[in-house]
Amino acid sequence: MASGAALTWTLTDGVAVVTFDLPGEPVNKISRAVKQDVLATFEALERDRAVEAVAFFSGKPDSFIAGADIAEFVEIASAAEAERLAADGQALLERVAAFSKPIAVGIHGACLGGGLEFALACRYRVASDHPKTQLGLPEVQLGLLPGAGGCQRLPRLIGARAALDLILGAKVERAAQAFRLGIVDELVHPAILKDITLAAAKRMARGWRPQRRRRGGLLAWLLDRNPLGRRLVFRTARRQVLAKTGGNYPAPLAALEAVEHGLRHGIREGLKREAQLFGQLAVTDVSRKLVQIFFATTALKKDFGIPSPPPPVAVSRLGVVGAGFMGAGIAGTAVAQAGVDVRLKDAGLPQVAKGLAAAREVLDDRLKRRRISPYEYTRLVAQLSGGESYAGFGRAELVIEAVFEDLAVKQAVVREVEGAASERAAFASNTSTIPIHRIAEAARRPEQVIGMHFFSPVARMPLLEVIPAARTAPAVISTAVAFGRRMGKTAIVVKDSPGFWINRILTPYMNEAGHLLAAGVAIEELDQLMVHFGFPVGPITLLDEVGMDVAEKVAGVMHAALKAGRLGRKAGKGFYRYSGGKKGGVDAAVYELIGTQPNGGPRPAEVIQRLVLVMLNEAARAVGEGIVRSPRDGDIGAIFGFGFPPFRGGPLRHADDLGAARLVGELERLAERYGARFAPSDVLRDQARRGTKFYS
Ligand code: 3HC
Repeated sequence: MASGAALTWTLTDGVAVVTFDLPGEPVNKISRAVKQDVLATFEALERDRAVEAVAFFSGKPDSFIAGADIAEFVEIASAAEAERLAADGQALLERVAAFSKPIAVGIHGACLGGGLEFALACRYRVASDHPKTQLGLPEVQLGLLPGAGGCQRLPRLIGARAALDLILGAKVERAAQAFRLGIVDELVHPAILKDITLAAAKRMARGWRPQRRRRGGLLAWLLDRNPLGRRLVFRTARRQVLAKTGGNYPAPLAALEAVEHGLRHGIREGLKREAQLFGQLAVTDVSRKLVQIFFATTALKKDFGIPSPPPPVAVSRLGVVGAGFMGAGIAGTAVAQAGVDVRLKDAGLPQVAKGLAAAREVLDDRLKRRRISPYEYTRLVAQLSGGESYAGFGRAELVIEAVFEDLAVKQAVVREVEGAASERAAFASNTSTIPIHRIAEAARRPEQVIGMHFFSPVARMPLLEVIPAARTAPAVISTAVAFGRRMGKTAIVVKDSPGFWINRILTPYMNEAGHLLAAGVAIEELDQLMVHFGFPVGPITLLDEVGMDVAEKVAGVMHAALKAGRLGRKAGKGFYRYSGGKKGGVDAAVYELIGTQPNGGPRPAEVIQRLVLVMLNEAARAVGEGIVRSPRDGDIGAIFGFGFPPFRGGPLRHADDLGAARLVGELERLAERYGARFAPSDVLRDQARRGTKFYS
């Protein structure tokens, strides 16, 4: 981009009002060209005697600055080059921090990464009190660290403990919380953001210096202000990071080091170390994978899963049939995220009341975590209603059913809904096992029927599988995808085939876990090994979490346990014991039930190999059958659906990394020993023969 095009300024009463508006881009980002532009602009502002202060704004409607340009990181070839890139950014912000005239920034919209680092280098920060205004340093989520001085300026502003909490957790906070933490100086209504920021700039020009109160009270002071307390803060943070990342993600530890180094040796040394560590991280395989995930997720936000998608229907009222755990989760999340009116229906009033209470818990949780204001809470609670009839469904543009997993029951529900809802309403089933075309067979308007497979718990699980059947109308597909997105989900459109994508590739994995149990591997060991591989939980815990539906098709040993009423966490007992929602130890009685005793079993390396390869093989086979539309969808689905280790990029990227030839060889050896369930898929054989991959 040509220098001089992104930043413009005008002079008002001694204050230069600078507007950052990167042409042709939806968000402002700091690229090499922008850095030049900022430098040139600030030089001009410095020279101009009429300029006494600066007020800085974004020209984008709902975003401030999204950070450094991530696309530039992809092209970096060496750690030294990445270190230079960070050092250049630091030098620019040093210039801003040392600018001879005071700078106030008015922040509205996303202020992330390098964007926040820029704001931190300015003297005064005003933020709009609007849900779109979010501030944070999410770099570690990309396998990086805040490399333009963020690891130095944030702890100096708000204390080491609060800064580490934000940086290591890649947390993004709404403006009100950022104000509470002391990141922003003033919180105002969006309508007066400009005036207040200008006024602050003017006041500063006249010699006013903003006073900052230390937040957090005595404890924070004790911990942050003396070396002993600080050492404790770092030791605790390091322990937490290691427990959380299992050593698989280097970025949080590096960020911790950058912060600690700076506080111990001063900002100059801190910046140097920060740039070095940024350089090292930027070229790691982990960071490359996490950046790929960022771009894949972003691309999915615009992808409706069909060529030339018709515009989605704007949903303002949702009908939900079935007030159980899933139905209530869908209802609560739809209200909380999409702000639609929700009508919840079940057979009896007690179920409806219970469902509404559970749906409200989603809102309670948002309120508690300050994601919504008490005012929004009251408004949203009023949008939730329910009953034992279909009253209120007439105005729903979309109905989602989450009734018992039984074809006849679901078919009856389609017919009932068709009788009660408008002709144009789309009907989505949240089934995880029943083919959508079978449900649609009962419909008078099968073109309105689709699958929307949410994961449990709905409020927290980020994935949605959208499953069109053969006759589903394209507009219904766009509507389901668009509404899923409004609910905050990443949606992938998958084929109407048993298990869709997620349960299809999970099933052989769970099944193999059953074989390994039968071979004498202990339950905890099995779980620990997969956590070590990078999953958030192992297969047995996952089975307890997901309960029956996936488990139905897995190996006999598992089935025996489930038959005995051990339905998993929701039943309070599965393979593990649960009490008060907390997981306890393995219930030893399970071994009796499944007729096996732990005796060591195969070597750990073989356990991991069998579990991973059987999943990769099935994923390859499913790709061959067109279950997902692209490897990208498959990988994002597996990462968001059940936590396939993000640093490995997803099952298909991981298969590419291992190479088809190696996979086929290992699978053949396993098939010889353990049978046909390991027979390499045609897709992998074909790739091995031709030397191709999923990603070119
Ligand atoms: N770099 C490059 N491109 C970016 C970007 C960035 N930091 N942030 C957003 N984009 C691009 C997206 O890829 C997308 O591109 P496309 O239109 O070509 O597909 C476009 O901007 C719009 O983004 P979204 O579709 O995601 O828009 P939303 O409105 O849904 O979300 C957002 C906006 C909240 C800013 C979100 O894009 C986001 O979270 N961005 C990344 C923020 C981030 O991680 N920043 C840290 C960067 S690293 C850094 O700053 C290092 C520094 O410390 C040295």
